[in-house]
Amino acid sequence: MELHRPVMPEETLLQLAAGRGGLFIDATLGLGGHTELILQASPDNRVIGLDRDTEALALARTRLAPYGARFVGVHSDYRRLKEVLADNGNEPVAGILADLGVSSLQLDTPERGFSFRFADTDAPLDMRMDREEGTTAADLVNDLSERELADIIFEYGEERAARRIARRIVAERVKTPLTTTAQLADLVIKAVQQKGHWRIHPATRTFQALRIAVNRELEGLDKFVADAVEVLAPAGRLVVITFHSLEDRIIKQTFRFQSGQCQCPASQPVCRCGAFARVEVLTRKALLPSEAEIAANPRARSAKLRACRKLS
Ligand SMILES: C[S@@+](CC[C@H](N)C(=O)[O-])C[C@H]1O[C@@H](n2cnc3c(N)ncnc32)[C@H](O)[C@@H]1O
Repeated sequence: MELHRPVMPEETLLQLAAGRGGLFIDATLGLGGHTELILQASPDNRVIGLDRDTEALALARTRLAPYGARFVGVHSDYRRLKEVLADNGNEPVAGILADLGVSSLQLDTPERGFSFRFADTDAPLDMRMDREEGTTAADLVNDLSERELADIIFEYGEERAARRIARRIVAERVKTPLTTTAQLADLVIKAVQQKGHWRIHPATRTFQALRIAVNRELEGLDKFVADAVEVLAPAGRLVVITFHSLEDRIIKQTFRFQSGQCQCPASQPVCRCGAFARVEVLTRKALLPSEAEIAANPRARSAKLRACRKLS
């Protein structure tokens, strides 16, 4: 299997200021690509890597074994960052990276159910990053109401045909429960009835929406940023890479709040949001991958990188 290529590697190391030695946290370890680069950037770097996917964690541990005690892998959701750090010595943190989204391992393994590309298999409609957690995509498409499904597909997939797709799901599931990625991909194609050449597969947005819902990807992202800023040492860096506009919007707004911009409505004369400058934002505009990187690694296409530095 091809290893997940770390996205925007040079930009990430630069924004993390990874050459200076210290403890880094990789909040989304995946297959350990970024972590390995951080470990190579200075012999004095150590990394605690978190992932909620036990399969990714096992592969990353094997890959990073040559770095010995400089790497510690933890099975955890990054929303438990503070607890993980407390369990691991509560040291000042030089930098934190979150490379959000799915890994190649998850996308390329049919049984994980993340992809609409495996039309000729019985790939289950799963999509859980942490397979120890409960709800799968099949649970959602078979149990939610038409209205709830339409809202999820519209909101998280930004899919204009959300109502038509939800109607079709409900019409099909009464005949036979939806259990495979192929069934879902097929019914979305029929619901959308898009003719001619597809720029992207018609089921792309529906699959993205269900994945976000199954893994509650947008929940607690703002709290994660606040916790990350709290545990950083002065001058410590936080780098976040996002892959869709909903995530990026949350990161952009949370960075603004952390940098002291008041979030209160203009009509409110006194600030009640408690904004004060905890960080300096280092990327006025999100950094994007170069054309060359996108050509070599098409999955980098929608990446946006934002970084901030903790003030003293
Ligand atoms: C894009 S991949 C990271 C790839 C990694 N940077 C590399 O270079 O190999 C994202 C990873 O984040 C993990 N992940 C997503 N949400 C998470 C969460 N809330 N807590 C912990 N890990 C999460 C996924 O399981 C996936 O393995």
